[in-house]
Amino acid sequence: MAQINEHYLGLKGSYLFSEMAKRINAHGGDIIKLGIGDVTRPLPPAVTEAMIKAVNDMGTADGFHGYGPEQGYAWLREAVAANDYQGMGIEPDEIFISDGAKCDTGNIQELFSDKCRIAVLDPVYPVYVDTNVMAGRAGDYDPEKNAYSNITYLPCSAENGFKPSLPDTDVDIIYLCYPNNPTGTVLTKAELSEWVAYAKKTGALILFDAAYEAFIREDNIPHSIYEIDGAKEVAIEFRSYSKTAGFTGVRCAFAVVPKTLTGTDSNGQPHSLNAMWNRRHTTKFNGVPYITQKGAFACYSEEGKAQIRETIDFYLGNAGIIREGLKSIGIECWGGVNSPYVWLKTPGGMPSWDFFDRLLDAGVAGTPGAGFGSAGEGYFRLTAFNTRENTLRAMERFSLLRI
Ligand code: MLT
Repeated sequence: MAQINEHYLGLKGSYLFSEMAKRINAHGGDIIKLGIGDVTRPLPPAVTEAMIKAVNDMGTADGFHGYGPEQGYAWLREAVAANDYQGMGIEPDEIFISDGAKCDTGNIQELFSDKCRIAVLDPVYPVYVDTNVMAGRAGDYDPEKNAYSNITYLPCSAENGFKPSLPDTDVDIIYLCYPNNPTGTVLTKAELSEWVAYAKKTGALILFDAAYEAFIREDNIPHSIYEIDGAKEVAIEFRSYSKTAGFTGVRCAFAVVPKTLTGTDSNGQPHSLNAMWNRRHTTKFNGVPYITQKGAFACYSEEGKAQIRETIDFYLGNAGIIREGLKSIGIECWGGVNSPYVWLKTPGGMPSWDFFDRLLDAGVAGTPGAGFGSAGEGYFRLTAFNTRENTLRAMERFSLLRI
């Protein structure tokens, strides 16, 4: 008999976005989707041109590519180092090309002992928690608290300006996501420096999800944790082309695992996390397709950069419409300035899932804050990733809400 991994039984319900999709489909009707953060703008022309050329290459004897390097082609890793990490001392062999930041942030926990104590912000992108539950690191789920016993939750609410306090108990691994999913808020350089200093002092590792960095428009907001001195000794960073260049259906991302980063074994001996991730990658992954990597590489051309900037400006324009629309009807909201996500307080303190149902009846789907953790209760997330027309229509529907 194949005995199951019983940690799966500790997962609560279904994955947040699957649950929402189920409810939206069951509801039916003309629903404008501002729920899951899936993009709607087409791929930048520079990307499609590069991918078409790559397809043609693959149809020739000279241009055909079989298995590529598991870690990604050198030309893409070099382009990432030169463009995304210019001046930060990140080397191409510290960059691992993958098929998504969701997979990377979910898989990375495999490198660590099941005894590691993890800390997450609350509300939080559910992948960080669920993958640790699957690995048996989370403890028991308490439905009253909507929380797991062995996870340290760092609450973020309007009261603390959505800025979490440093943990007041010992933790080994801290997940940070900035610009934040789901609240759309950011940390300044000084604020992120406090986290790096904390990790250096305590020996904790920071898993920094920067999937939304391209949306940063304000000064003094770090795009990478490696802008902070010393971060190469304490942090792994994740990035993605999904929200940046419209790759949600194409799939390409990368993780940066500096060679200076170590974890310790049970005898306290240090081991390179770069070497471990390399071993994992080569064993379990056969690399991102050549055609896809050529598309990602085109993001770094002058045309690619300009086209991506235009797309992101477009989404930020939608975010502005959402923010203004909400404010005009007296709904308090945050985010949407350096982020595609707008986080709002539900009217009259309505529970998040009740507001989800109420809004669905009005023809708009969003994401209930409680789905991201207990501190998300009473909040709700909208994305700026729909078309301009649908965003405007959604805000019209909001203005007709009578709550
Ligand atoms: C979200 O809506 O939070 C994201 O689309 C989820 C993801 O990127 O996996």
